[in-house]
Amino acid sequence: MELSFILNELGEERENYFNAVSPPIIQTSNFAFKTVGDLRNAMDDEFAASLYSRGQNPTLDILRKKLAALDGAEDALLFSSGISAITIPMLALLKSGDHIIAVENSYSWSVKFFNDFLPKFGITTTFISGTNLEEFEQAAQPKTRIIFLESPSTFSYELQDLKKVAAFARSRDIVTIIDNSYCSPLYQQPIALGIDLVAQSATKYIGGHSDVVAGVLTGSKALLKKIFENEFMTFGPALSPNSAWLLLRGLRTLPLRLERSFESTKTITAWLSGHEAVQDVIWPFSPNNKQLILANEQMKGCGGLFSFTLKNSSLEKIEAFCNNLKHILLAVSWGGHESLIVPAIASFGIQHYDNNNDRQQLIRMYVGLEDPQYLIADLQQALTSVQ
Ligand SMILES: Cc1ncc(COP(=O)(O)O)c(C=O)c1O
Repeated sequence: MELSFILNELGEERENYFNAVSPPIIQTSNFAFKTVGDLRNAMDDEFAASLYSRGQNPTLDILRKKLAALDGAEDALLFSSGISAITIPMLALLKSGDHIIAVENSYSWSVKFFNDFLPKFGITTTFISGTNLEEFEQAAQPKTRIIFLESPSTFSYELQDLKKVAAFARSRDIVTIIDNSYCSPLYQQPIALGIDLVAQSATKYIGGHSDVVAGVLTGSKALLKKIFENEFMTFGPALSPNSAWLLLRGLRTLPLRLERSFESTKTITAWLSGHEAVQDVIWPFSPNNKQLILANEQMKGCGGLFSFTLKNSSLEKIEAFCNNLKHILLAVSWGGHESLIVPAIASFGIQHYDNNNDRQQLIRMYVGLEDPQYLIADLQQALTSVQ
């Protein structure tokens, strides 16, 4: 299916809503039926019907079709947050005593789910770096049900070989789930590489304007129906029609925004790499990335998230650099119009700072839609202030 068709036409039956070009926000909790028979049919298959907006809703349905098509998946399920699109499917697939293999540097709340939540139900996780297949082979146990991936990860950018991991998992009847937020469906297509379920924080690139929190999960209809009819409807992580509409609006410009962010990031990472105050720049498409061949094989592009470290890094230096930024905002998240910086040191108490821990020196930047030269000028003045 062509990208332009997906973004502009797919799912949009305009004759059903006065031929309006922009789809309506169907702000209703429930739907009425003419006969008991019709009501019974809807209740019998709520995955397919608009019955109650904790399940399906027509505004969400337009988005659902587009997001499934973008991932090359049979279907999609929408969530009120990215983290629920990650955790709810796992709850649906696991039972007490099961085992998971997960990449160690994934999103912090995913790690918390593995470390603090699942052990309550006797479910254990083996963490691996995920950068080579042998680690997966060695970590697999008879009760391994899920392999959880995040490629690239969003602070240190390790990649997993998705094709190889998917083939290994299939050979052992293990379900693979990837957090694909970093690339979005435009820059990485895990389903075509054999991955079963693709989760994404739609808060990031799909929304694109820092005004909505949402998640999406794509995969086979059978798997999504099972998740929907059990944990999804039981826990109730439904997306609101208003948020779905914001995501539809965000989707219209997704390719333009991603391309802009990717191009600006090439310019900014190259500039930072040559700066005398900068030690390292970590980005999947950096010329010195050890996994560059794999990045080129399985990713079409990169978006605007990367990390860097300062020469002679210290807690005080990182803080001073960040505090001196005038335009780039100090904030979590990414994928919106605005450029952001978050240093690793903000995520723990300063008494835990260890100058020898390389990970603690990382400063993560997200490159938004501003003129790259405007951002470079801001970085330059903040770097000069700590030299
Ligand atoms: C890589 C990654 N995955 C998942 C999430 C969770 O998404 P949400 O905040 O939409 O729940 C985030 C949020 O920052 C993220 O960065």
